[in-house]
Amino acid sequence: MMMDFTTGSFSSTLYQGDCFDVLRTLPDNSVDLIVTSPPYADQRKSTYGGIHPDHYVEWFTPTAVELLRVLKPTGTFILNIKEKVVNGERHTYVLQLILRMREVGWLWTEEFMWHKKNSHPGKWPNRFRDNWERLLQFNKEKQFAMYQDAVMVPMGKWAESRLRNLSETDKRRDNSRVGSGFGKNVSKWVGRDMAYPSNVLHMATETSNKNHSAAFPLELPSWFIKLFTGAGDLVLDPFMGQGTSCVAATQLQRSSIGIELNEEYYGLACANVDNAFKQSPTYGQPSLFSVLNESQGLTE
Ligand SMILES: C[S@@+](CC[C@H](N)C(=O)[O-])C[C@H]1O[C@@H](n2cnc3c(N)ncnc32)[C@H](O)[C@@H]1O
Repeated sequence: MMMDFTTGSFSSTLYQGDCFDVLRTLPDNSVDLIVTSPPYADQRKSTYGGIHPDHYVEWFTPTAVELLRVLKPTGTFILNIKEKVVNGERHTYVLQLILRMREVGWLWTEEFMWHKKNSHPGKWPNRFRDNWERLLQFNKEKQFAMYQDAVMVPMGKWAESRLRNLSETDKRRDNSRVGSGFGKNVSKWVGRDMAYPSNVLHMATETSNKNHSAAFPLELPSWFIKLFTGAGDLVLDPFMGQGTSCVAATQLQRSSIGIELNEEYYGLACANVDNAFKQSPTYGQPSLFSVLNESQGLTE
């Protein structure tokens, strides 16, 4: 099953099916950003199934190969995943998956941490509350599209306290003592309102008004869409759940493709994306595609 939504110069196509099968129908080098959260190993078995941790890498590899094919050389793949605890130890399938991704041709460029800032305290006999998840960044090439200014954040309290009394070291470039090649010059931030964020994202989980047990907060895909795409680019979520990435893409006027196996979640995703299109400023106007076709005499 497939649903299309279009307005202005962007569109969304949502497929119901196994993402491996649907991905095989998509053209090479056509997607600017893949952002997704596949089912975690053996978790949420009762809602949408799970894959045994020992089989996770084998299960994901064919999809990883198809994703590599459909991504543009300038594109980025953001994979949200976290290893579970098995028999008192963290399982190593995420680490093994990273190695396998490199074997099939992906570059492991970066890792972001999503700190779930609203998670409540908790303790188990030998560990505390797990309140962060990995967002692994993979690329096809070392040079990829990245719009860092699009995710700048207000300087805030850090600037007020840190920049008030600058030391002599703060006023000159301080080269890294660990030989990383990175240096800092704190004084260059005086008088600025905005700064670049770090690779730790402090975002709350959204639990209200959600019908999927593991939905992204809207803020999460939105942040990566701003960072790695421009207006009109194409975003893909092959495990879209209730369609949060496609809703974020629509709100940011990017085109999107979403794929979901489960019929109920697919229906939710269609309703959510439809709603996002209805709120778009260009909703109801003829799409750019139909205007172009009409001007070229292509409509019936
Ligand atoms: C972690 S959830 C994604 C949630 C999503 N990020 C959101 O915001 O709603 C993973 C989803 O992948 C779907 N899924 C599992 N196997 C799939 C497959 N082979 N192809 C497509 N979707 C699949 C599940 O039904 C589930 O909804």
